[in-house]
Amino acid sequence: MVSLSEVRSSNAALPRGQGTLTAVFVGATSGIGLATLRSYATHISNPTALIIGRNRSKFASELGNLRSLNPAGSFTFLEADVSLIKNIDAVCESIKQQLSGAKVDLVYLSQGYVGFNGRETNAEGLDNSFSLRYYGRIRFASRLAPLLTPNGRVVSVLGGGQEGKMIEDDLDLERNYSVGQAMVHSATLHSLSFDQLAKQYPDKAFIHAFPGLASTGLLGHSATGVLGVAFKWIVEPLMSLFVAKPADVGERMLYYGTAPQFQRGSWTLNEKGEAKEVAALKEYREKGWAEKVGEFNVKMFERALQV
Ligand SMILES: NC(=O)c1ccc[n+]([C@@H]2O[C@H](COP(=O)([O-])OP(=O)(O)OC[C@H]3O[C@@H](n4cnc5c(N)ncnc54)[C@H](OP(=O)(O)O)[C@@H]3O)[C@@H](O)[C@H]2O)c1
Repeated sequence: MVSLSEVRSSNAALPRGQGTLTAVFVGATSGIGLATLRSYATHISNPTALIIGRNRSKFASELGNLRSLNPAGSFTFLEADVSLIKNIDAVCESIKQQLSGAKVDLVYLSQGYVGFNGRETNAEGLDNSFSLRYYGRIRFASRLAPLLTPNGRVVSVLGGGQEGKMIEDDLDLERNYSVGQAMVHSATLHSLSFDQLAKQYPDKAFIHAFPGLASTGLLGHSATGVLGVAFKWIVEPLMSLFVAKPADVGERMLYYGTAPQFQRGSWTLNEKGEAKEVAALKEYREKGWAEKVGEFNVKMFERALQV
């Protein structure tokens, strides 16, 4: 287990070792992603951050905050709705142009919400929540991997260690969608996709991390109607007394991106920072499911882009 005090002291020592880093943040306009971005701005001497979000004007005051946290930093916002694969491809091209030949050290992915309203098919025929939490993240990781420095890392904040048995003839959950199944499928497919990427890019690290419960307002952002009101005004205020603070989880995510032990390969980290291989994931790995999932992803991306 990696304690919070270990995380904090490692991050506090960062400027001496790693003065300049370039990172891409997706899903950092609130919650855990934003907390990670603030930690990054605080602990890296000369940080460059490319921040991808769907509403530039809503983020304007936070850009000011980041610049005052670190006046030596460069913080650029690129506007894109990352629920669609075609928009992800376009914004990855913009990232490439922004970098003008430079490389990326870190990619943080934390976009998404929990789909409480059943399957919500978007313009590309994908469930919108599933697309944000799974397909889109794998698309970002695949598109940005060639731009990573040697030893570069992708950290995706979702469900490392939360994998489970999938409905194997309905990976996309077209016929079997439920909140629980979507969580299991997105976590399991995610870890197997990262295995595949780690094989393709053996000098990089692909880290799938479970943050544990954190008081970000995620449930209230996700649910609508009576359930949304109950989450926002009753469940989340109560939960916030017991669960982790986003700032602490953000520190932990920065640690996963910078601590020496998470170099190279595919990592599934639980909320304590322990590499976890649950029985279902072990079985899928042993049966060669990483390759199958890689092929499934290609098919789903092609299908989405044809719609
Ligand atoms: N918080 C927890 O306890 C917890 C536990 C386990 C796993 N997770 C996972 O960790 C990730 C981050 O959670 P969080 O608590 O930080 O959530 P959050 O505070 O709600 O932040 C979610 C991020 O995703 C973006 N997003 C949401 N819906 C979007 C949409 N339709 N299109 C484009 N972007 C969208 C948000 O952008 P806007 O600012 O534009 O809305 C925001 O940047 C999620 O995938 C969540 O499932 C969280």
